[in-house]
Amino acid sequence: MITLIHLETRLRAFAEQFGKLAVRYDQTLKHSEELETVINEYSRFVTAPDHKIAWDMLKQVELEELEPLIHQLRHQSARCVAIMEKYRALKLQDGEVQIADYFKNIEECIDKEFGRFQVTSQSKVLLVGSGSFPMTPLLIAKRTGAEVVGIDIDAEAITLGRKVVETLGAGLNIRLEQLLLEDLAYTKQATHIIFSSTVANKYDLLDQLHALTNEQVVVAMRYGDQLKSLFNYPMKETDRRKWKLVDNILRPDDVFDIALYQKVL
Ligand SMILES: C[S@@+](CC[C@H](N)C(=O)[O-])C[C@H]1O[C@@H](n2cnc3c(N)ncnc32)[C@H](O)[C@@H]1O
Repeated sequence: MITLIHLETRLRAFAEQFGKLAVRYDQTLKHSEELETVINEYSRFVTAPDHKIAWDMLKQVELEELEPLIHQLRHQSARCVAIMEKYRALKLQDGEVQIADYFKNIEECIDKEFGRFQVTSQSKVLLVGSGSFPMTPLLIAKRTGAEVVGIDIDAEAITLGRKVVETLGAGLNIRLEQLLLEDLAYTKQATHIIFSSTVANKYDLLDQLHALTNEQVVVAMRYGDQLKSLFNYPMKETDRRKWKLVDNILRPDDVFDIALYQKVL
């Protein structure tokens, strides 16, 4: 059984590696292999069943002790995953297509994303935090024929993402924009909205979305609690007058889970 000391030592080692690798990104592929290795190790760490058991047995006081480190790792790993997507986009430009474990994980999740609220060819899907390698828009558009719009606050992610879509998604109805939800006319038309798990303010944005969306919209909030909160921003309570939780899709083998919300009418 993994002890608190062992856990803390592993986590501090990850924090040190993430810290180093994040500042090394220089728009080349020089440090890509190293980052990919650490992210894959980290993905395995947060999904390992024995780590989950050990984590669930931690006492409240032990968790409180770890809290600053958990916050730091969540922030650092989000940054490093965004960089890993940049590397993957740059590799594609170099003609190299490679799917790391983390990406397989996301790809496998897409079929389950909306539970009983399936995406059809008539759906209008909006992704908040589309990233530099927009797998979610590509897979949804390819599998369902739906229109997909992705937004991101990072200009480089939009530029790289558009090149990826040009290369892998020719003929698909995908648009990427560096726009805020309130400045995008599509927000009102969207039937399905997905939040990337590593968007830090996703629950503030969900609250804001209540006034910006139509009555039928379904929101898939990717999140991670407990052990998975090391790699994801966790689930939060919503304003009960605005959003109700209609499903909670738990995926033990995957890095994040999915909470589905509908509007309280
Ligand atoms: C790991 S990535 C994208 C997920 C992945 N490409 C997918 O298709 O599921 C997360 C992205 O969210 C973006 N992001 C973070 N906060 C955001 C916000 N408030 N609004 C929009 N994008 C945001 C980051 O810039 C980053 O590119």
